[in-house]
Amino acid sequence: MTLMMVVVLAVLTGVTGSPNVKIRPGAESEDASVHPNSVPETVEQTESFGQQNVSSQEELEQHVMETGELNPSHYPAQRAAKVIQHYLNTRYGSPYKVFGLQTVHSGNAEDVADSGRKYQLEISVQELISNATEKCSAEVLFPRGEGQHSPQVQASCEGLLKINTKAQEEALFQKYKMNQSQLSAQYLPDSYGHIEHDMEPFWHLGQVAASFVMLKESTENSLYNMAQVANVTQLATENDRLKFDYHILLHDMVSQEIIHWKLLFTWSPPEGVKVLHMEQLPHCHGCDKPPNTN
Ligand SMILES: *[C@@H]1O[C@H](CO)[C@@H](O)[C@H](O)[C@H]1NC(C)=O
Ligand SMILES: *[C@@H]1O[C@H](CO)[C@@H](O)[C@H](O)[C@H]1NC(C)=O
Ligand SMILES: *[C@@H]1O[C@H](CO)[C@@H](O)[C@H](O)[C@H]1NC(C)=O
Ligand SMILES: *[C@@H]1O[C@H](CO)[C@@H](O)[C@H](O)[C@H]1NC(C)=O
Repeated sequence: MTLMMVVVLAVLTGVTGSPNVKIRPGAESEDASVHPNSVPETVEQTESFGQQNVSSQEELEQHVMETGELNPSHYPAQRAAKVIQHYLNTRYGSPYKVFGLQTVHSGNAEDVADSGRKYQLEISVQELISNATEKCSAEVLFPRGEGQHSPQVQASCEGLLKINTKAQEEALFQKYKMNQSQLSAQYLPDSYGHIEHDMEPFWHLGQVAASFVMLKESTENSLYNMAQVANVTQLATENDRLKFDYHILLHDMVSQEIIHWKLLFTWSPPEGVKVLHMEQLPHCHGCDKPPNTN
């Protein structure tokens, strides 16, 4: 039972986004009693550790998937809302425009016959560089069926899309278009959380590119965060588009693993980010952290 409580706490703490889960001794009963709906999360968590066989897993999922009005601070609403952040980044992100989920105000989930499950959400989205915030309505459909299909998103966040970063984007484009193959950087941010000022746009670009992976990989049961750009190399400019090879680290909040992805993509001010290739790299022990931490 104590173990169950710890899992519940870990799950609840995880929602706030802190990767360093600290369990306060003695807080179990208090926290667990204020979150009576957290029990299904425990079931789900257990299930994701592979302790259930397939048929009973399906049974559990039937109970776990909340339908109707959702608690905005619990995982089902938070996970679906996070998908909207990734969608906005893939559509509108740039080295000077990165979207983040700020708050989930309300959410609703329903089964859609044959096609999947639909979430309707009211959220606040923040543009992280200008710090502008806007309330948006959005719909996320997690398709049901064979194979892995990306969730489909519809969102209206008109105000945030009007933030004008054209001049900065054009300046960056011109600077790096002329100096191709010169950009090469590692560890954005470094192990102290620091990023050189000149490298900030490439950290933002890495976050936008990572959203392509996270949007593609997201399901009702997943939650990912961008952790770090392990390295970025600029390749020769092609057809008036800057081209990059990025190696990114994502934090899988469910398994608590760091996963590695390699991404090849282009960026230009008029077209934004276009992914040419993305590939998950095998898990490698000992290469999650920069080697120069001591
Ligand atoms: C899976 O779980 C069900 C229900 O708990 C059980 O009846 C079945 O035998 C299990 N199957 C396997 C392959 O373990
Ligand atoms: C960003 O905006 C939020 C409110 O929307 C505010 O609380 C916060 O202090 C702002 N941060 C910065 C760095 O301006
Ligand atoms: C690009 O080249 C110009 C001129 O050769 C130089 O002044 C500038 O510092 C270079 N920029 C970068 C990012 O290397
Ligand atoms: C980028 O980082 C990954 C993981 O640390 C490493 O395997 C790869 O060799 C690096 N690539 C370059 C070009 O530094």
